[in-house]
Amino acid sequence: MMKEKLLKLQAEAMEKITSASQPESLEAARLEYLGKKGELTQVLRGMGEVAPEDRPVMGQLVNSVREAVEAAIEMRRRELSSKIMEARLEREKVDVTIPGEPVVTGRRHPLNTVLGEMIDIFTKMGFDIAEGPEVEYDYYNFEALNIPKDHPARDTQDTFYFTDNVLLRTQTSSVQIRVMEKQKPPIRIVAPGRVYRSDAVDATHSPLFHQMEGLVVDKGITMADLKGTLENLAKMMYGEDSVCRFRPHHFPFTEPSAEMDVQCFACHGEGCRLCKGEGWIEVLGAGMVHPKVLRTCGIDPDVYSGFAFGIGLERVTMRRYNIDDLRLLYENDLRFLGQF
Ligand code: DAH
Repeated sequence: MMKEKLLKLQAEAMEKITSASQPESLEAARLEYLGKKGELTQVLRGMGEVAPEDRPVMGQLVNSVREAVEAAIEMRRRELSSKIMEARLEREKVDVTIPGEPVVTGRRHPLNTVLGEMIDIFTKMGFDIAEGPEVEYDYYNFEALNIPKDHPARDTQDTFYFTDNVLLRTQTSSVQIRVMEKQKPPIRIVAPGRVYRSDAVDATHSPLFHQMEGLVVDKGITMADLKGTLENLAKMMYGEDSVCRFRPHHFPFTEPSAEMDVQCFACHGEGCRLCKGEGWIEVLGAGMVHPKVLRTCGIDPDVYSGFAFGIGLERVTMRRYNIDDLRLLYENDLRFLGQF
């Protein structure tokens, strides 16, 4: 009687367990048979009523049924949890072969790249960075730089004036004066910035362009320091084997004055299209700071001397990247800018 009941219970339990499709229904089945008030538990409690001689056999039977049910539950639990895991893996699957979404990144403007390199070179040589205003007084842009009232550079054809006295600076040389007014030697600065000239736009002219000014003032500074510093600059910018030459020139604020050329890297001095047959490419203007300029700034030219230089950043950039039209640097055409 009891044996039959047990076997029937086992069959029922097995049916419920194997058909449980969720951990919740499996747990319900477990409670139904093995819980405190579960059917199998009840049978176990009823063992007292079994005749003593039948107890060992019945005990064994009850235990084996319970073990079978427990084993079935455990097996079903594993099956369900691996099914759940599989479903989750399927749901969260990442297809690494799908092409990624392109990330549009900005790039440095070529002028900025060249500026950054030059600042790097000069700060490594111990220079500080100085700045001055773009809207400037005539005094700093011309007068204090020994550029007299009748100098052609002051013509309104070249200079944007706001008033007789206030203008857009035409050169970063104005920063030399501002630095020397405030700071006494030793001075070693570079001053990058925008400058403005009333030029019509073409492939080599723009009313706005960029310069980097340099100024060194101390006791005993000579032309040899100027040459050493600027040759070093050329080597750092154009390579260890680049060749420089200095040509005499004239600037009102330096005496003597010079322009530095580097030998054309395309033809090594033979003359080609890049250097327009010259064999040399002009890089910068420089010179020993004029004693009058030092004196104007309250620096005694009998004690101190210095050198200065001015570099056109557009020129350096165009040469570096083989850009043949200045306008490309200002039009912000992404087809152009994307190439750098
Ligand atoms: N300011 C000059 C120009 O715009 C460039 C220049 C030449 C700057 C000689 C200097 C220098 O400091 O010594 O053409």
